[in-house]
Amino acid sequence: MPEKDANIMDQIAESNRSVVTGIDEKDIEHWITISILGREYKVPAGLTIMQAMEFAGYRFVRSCGCRAGFCGACTTVYRIEGEYRLQTAMACQTRVEDGMYLTQIPFTPAPRADYNIDDLKPGIEPFLTHYPEILRCLGCNACTKACPQDIDVMEYIAAGKRGDVDLMADLSFDCIMCGLCAMRCPAELAQYNYAQLARRLYGKYETPPPEHLISRVKEIEGGTYGKELDTLTSTPVNELRKKYTARDIEKA
Ligand code: SF4
Ligand code: SF4
Ligand code: FES
Repeated sequence: MPEKDANIMDQIAESNRSVVTGIDEKDIEHWITISILGREYKVPAGLTIMQAMEFAGYRFVRSCGCRAGFCGACTTVYRIEGEYRLQTAMACQTRVEDGMYLTQIPFTPAPRADYNIDDLKPGIEPFLTHYPEILRCLGCNACTKACPQDIDVMEYIAAGKRGDVDLMADLSFDCIMCGLCAMRCPAELAQYNYAQLARRLYGKYETPPPEHLISRVKEIEGGTYGKELDTLTSTPVNELRKKYTARDIEKA
């Protein structure tokens, strides 16, 4: 790394330390060594990969969203020193380990088909028409092993190959669209896009019409909330922020 950049990284690291850990560096007892993009860093034990990278001075402009395991943005691959196996993880959910080697990976291509859900029906046809490559699945299970949500990805792909939309939607319900399954797939499938199609078909055709939603949409279309909506859309942002902060929150 050029010296000028190294200094900038050191400055960022310095400013990030207290923010990330919330405690003074001299009070941190346990440190581990990790490697990020070929450079070694000493970081406090117990941080997540994302926090450790920030501690080391990296700032996330991309690949970081919810920080809570929901958005699927922070997919990460790493190796532990001396181990052959390439591991996958969500950077916001996985703690750093001593000897962890982290590096940047390019995106995984996962083309998503254009379709109009109204033109499709549950069954095998939507997959054969829009994602025929699903039939290439080799049954190797690499996708299931890579999934941070513990989803049986291979099984939902098998359900998709049979046109069993209900099972595919059910098995993939917790998918956060992180793409780690696609990253490890030797058949170059984009599993999560197929599962999304299954859930859309399931939602449209296999679940009862949501009566409460239909009646609420009718109320809105009939102008029941017109005055409130006009007031809301014409309220300045600062005013909205105050109202949002002061809102009644339902007790859990
Ligand atoms: S099924 Fe694939 S995209 Fe969905 S959470 Fe698991 S690894 Fe991520
Ligand atoms: S990784 Fe790809 S080929 Fe292997 S089981 Fe999963 S979908 Fe099939
Ligand atoms: S930042 Fe959203 S899942 Fe990690």
